[in-house]
Amino acid sequence: MSELLLKNARIIDPARNIDQIGNIAVADGVIVEEAGLKNPEVIDLSGKILSPGFIDVHVHLRQPGNTTAETIASGTAAAAAGGFTSIVAMPNTNPSADTAGAIEYLRRIAAEQAVVKVLPCGNMTKGGKGEEMAGIGSLKNAGVVALSDDGKCIQDHGLMRHVVEYAKSFNLPIMDHCEETTLAAGGVMNEGKWSVLLGMNGIPGASEELIIARNILFARQINWKIHMQHVSTRESVDMLRRARAKGIPVTGEATPHHLTLNDECIKKFDTNYKMNPPLRSEDDRLALIEGVADGTITVIATDHAPHTQTAKLVEFDHAPFGIIGLETALPVCYTQLVASGIISVDKLIAKMTVGPAEVLGMENYSLAVGNPADITVFDPAAEYVIDKNTFRSKSRNTPFDGMSVKGKINLTVVDGKIVYRAGC
Ligand code: DOR
Ligand code: ZN
Repeated sequence: MSELLLKNARIIDPARNIDQIGNIAVADGVIVEEAGLKNPEVIDLSGKILSPGFIDVHVHLRQPGNTTAETIASGTAAAAAGGFTSIVAMPNTNPSADTAGAIEYLRRIAAEQAVVKVLPCGNMTKGGKGEEMAGIGSLKNAGVVALSDDGKCIQDHGLMRHVVEYAKSFNLPIMDHCEETTLAAGGVMNEGKWSVLLGMNGIPGASEELIIARNILFARQINWKIHMQHVSTRESVDMLRRARAKGIPVTGEATPHHLTLNDECIKKFDTNYKMNPPLRSEDDRLALIEGVADGTITVIATDHAPHTQTAKLVEFDHAPFGIIGLETALPVCYTQLVASGIISVDKLIAKMTVGPAEVLGMENYSLAVGNPADITVFDPAAEYVIDKNTFRSKSRNTPFDGMSVKGKINLTVVDGKIVYRAGC
């Protein structure tokens, strides 16, 4: 079995509070003591940062159903290029991942074609329609790591309460797309100054905040883990902060785009700025950054949502919601949050490693000897321009094309195997 010696890297391992120059040794797919290596491939990583593999808890792979936009093969290749070693696959495929058979299909294709670990997420309700609970026990037996109706949100609070109770009994975290639909109905962008100026229908922050409030109530009452997907407003961050201070088991994620862009971008009428929840006001964006900085938001997740060019090349009102993010997450966040001095690189890495691992109940997610060798290496000094035509993803729907960034992924290792390598 192959051996690797990754030398002279700045090792950042948040779970063990490590930030130091050193070597990491790999044999038979796991991290080992350097002294035990016999004939390793040696890679010099001077000047580069090495961390546990990034985890993205929010990825749309589109297979089955829309393999023109993405496949398990292309989506996981994009993940590897973005430094992600594990990704959680959202269930809003076609058909939905709401049965053991659908999960079995995903796992079978992933075993053959995926280059990173694909962790299946099952629906909370049949078809993600919010009407009838899915067979949560059989989804658990089939290997799901979490439950979500992402893209949609259960509006029936009685049903949601039962889902949370079931999820708890099967030890499955809930990841909720928080959206009250009567408030959001017909909206295509954030409701605010810019929607008025542009004459577009708005989606108010209250649409998200109402459901976050509901979920906090259920998480407290049932004492079960609810993770709020793509949190986008100041009030949502405030509610999450207060709930966490009381010890209620809620967590929240922010996306790279909500952390770096605001609703003024919509004046370009570019459908690559259209996603749900929408880009919010500058004040909301600053609140998300405060939440990341003070530990209210423990996860950065991409909501990688591929759509074909044909689907997106329509008027803003008619375009589907969603942008891709796997191949731009690290450079966009590194440039805008770390290089600009807002948060430390250690904190950014924590939000992409231990934060998501904790949501999934993965213990000891670190570079400790004996752990699976899932490793990410990037060069914080490398400067380049994002070029969507270099992406592994089958889709190109990104607002970050042409952006000058710092921070380039050099190496992605999954179970000791190099699945992406560039510039080292
Ligand atoms: O922008 C989004 N796109 N938000 C979602 O919740 C779903 C996703 C998708 O599946 O395209
Ligand atoms: Zn969503």
